[in-house]
Amino acid sequence: MKMNLANIKKAKKLLNLGECVAIPTETVYGLAGNAYSNKACKKIFKLKRRPKNNPLIVHYYDIWDLEKDCYLNKDFFKLFKKFCPGPITFILNLKKKSKISKIATNNKMTLAIRFPKHPITRYLLKGLTFPLAAPSANISTRVSAVSSLDVKEDFGKKIKYILDGGRSRIGVESTIVDLRDKPRILRLGGLDTLKIQKILNKKIVLNNKSKKISVPGNFKLHYSPGIPIRLRVKKVKKNEAYLLIKKKKKTKQNYYFLSKKGDLKEAAKNLYSTLRKIKKDNYISIAVEKIPNKGLGKTINDRLMKASKF
Ligand code: TXA
Ligand code: MG
Repeated sequence: MKMNLANIKKAKKLLNLGECVAIPTETVYGLAGNAYSNKACKKIFKLKRRPKNNPLIVHYYDIWDLEKDCYLNKDFFKLFKKFCPGPITFILNLKKKSKISKIATNNKMTLAIRFPKHPITRYLLKGLTFPLAAPSANISTRVSAVSSLDVKEDFGKKIKYILDGGRSRIGVESTIVDLRDKPRILRLGGLDTLKIQKILNKKIVLNNKSKKISVPGNFKLHYSPGIPIRLRVKKVKKNEAYLLIKKKKKTKQNYYFLSKKGDLKEAAKNLYSTLRKIKKDNYISIAVEKIPNKGLGKTINDRLMKASKF
């Protein structure tokens, strides 16, 4: 995807005015606004129809900007060095003097932060005097957007501008790790948790199934394509779409495969776009075959499990 500087300039101008703009990231598209501005953050919640108690991730260009807002620690530096910019989000303690909007944090003294890798968004962030609050650019509870067309499908003309950066390379949201105390994974995502564990060289707790909902993103219904989903299905019903991990020799019209050969990274990349496609093809329900629960397969299973609560 070529960098179109005029487009980036347009996005910058709107963001400077306190408007919301959709931005491309390597995970999924974000609905961005000035993280220092209450007005901009309020707009994000309104557009997404997002509950106020579900705080926003703030996106930074580099570590020097972040130091003004959060307390950094050893685990953070290790992971930053290895994986940033990239598909990982950190939960850190917020500094009292931070200018981050209280609307973005829902008045909490913690902050979710991320350094996105997409070159267009990095260029944009570099030219701004504030970090960007940006939840995934989809209507709350629905699947995330992995292209500018997906964003348009959800928001239509309601958002002022969509900065096009092509198709998201990873296709699922970032992995969230809480680093305030013992490292905890709060959401599975685009970065395999085993890789995080290896760098920290200690066991990390998987907390994403917590009933206490420490991450509101773990609200029951999430990532839903808007139709029912059945999991681990061996026999598909006649009028159901069948979601498969790899291409079958004999395929039928209602068969949708996530990867040619069952590659789990490729499957994750295609997950949301395939769910959107099935809905558009007018199926009223989806059956999913068993997906290997390793690597990014874990993230795929996590999302499908939540989506199946419809
Ligand atoms: O890949 C991503 O992470 C994308 C791109 C756009 O960066 N963003 C994204 O944002 O997925 P969102 O808002 O859809 O999901 C962020 C999750 C939410 O579940 C929210 O509850 C959680 O992060 N979160 C935000 N602030 C938090 C905090 N202080 N403590 C715990 N969880 C937090
Ligand atoms: Mg989201």
